[in-house]
Amino acid sequence: MRLIVFGANSPTGRLVTAMAMAAGHTVTAITRRPADFPFCDHRVQIADADVMDADAVDWVVRDHDAVLSVIGVPLSLKPVTVCSQVAFNVVKGMMNHGVRRLLCVGSAGLDAADLSRVGLLCQRAIRPVVLACGPAVQQDVRRMEGIVRETGLDWTLFRPGRLVTRSDVTDYRITAVPAPRTLTSRVDLAHALIHEVTHRDHVGETVHVATVPC
Ligand SMILES: NC(=O)c1ccc[n+]([C@@H]2O[C@H](COP(=O)([O-])OP(=O)(O)OC[C@H]3O[C@@H](n4cnc5c(N)ncnc54)[C@H](OP(=O)(O)O)[C@@H]3O)[C@@H](O)[C@H]2O)c1
Repeated sequence: MRLIVFGANSPTGRLVTAMAMAAGHTVTAITRRPADFPFCDHRVQIADADVMDADAVDWVVRDHDAVLSVIGVPLSLKPVTVCSQVAFNVVKGMMNHGVRRLLCVGSAGLDAADLSRVGLLCQRAIRPVVLACGPAVQQDVRRMEGIVRETGLDWTLFRPGRLVTRSDVTDYRITAVPAPRTLTSRVDLAHALIHEVTHRDHVGETVHVATVPC
């Protein structure tokens, strides 16, 4: 399939790109930092685009079979609109060009309780930041999810828990409801995205991805 990956240069996006190539797909990788993108391969085309730019998004979306978005934003005290604006621009471009399949990564939630697995000192430092800045990002992610659900496209929304980095894919779980304090490894999330784009098990569904502890 011809895939386009928004956020391809993120830690998760790089794994998605690698797994997509390994599965025989071609990838258009969207990043504002093309010089940092680690893949140079005939199966990958790099496009330098800001997803806040609707015209740029419209241009790159054409001629693809599926769109994957792992766009994310840092925590902020200011109002956040990136995720919802990206959803709006991507959906508009897809509709303009008859691209129907959309897989988007949102979030299970930025709950301070999720920090229980990090050290006490770290918790004390991070918890106030999450409590102060989390709601702005979370509200924008929820707006993004609402835009995607109302499109009538063949969408799947992925809600990982707190992301961690592991080297190997686990026997991760895909569930309709979140388990409390879920951790999701980026490699499991990438695997779930590439599996879904091929198998279409969860079209029109919001799914949670939970890494199995080892
Ligand atoms: N961290 C967590 O615990 C957590 C929890 C739940 C869900 N998530 C979600 O999981 C996904 C992957 O997270 P991650 O930590 O691997 O990646 P990340 O560090 O959140 O990277 C996000 C990517 O978004 C891209 N991006 C942001 N604004 C953009 C813009 N205006 N135009 C183009 N690209 C833009 C950046 O691309 P460039 O800088 O390359 O342009 C960056 O590579 C994200 O959707 C995140 O929200 C994360």
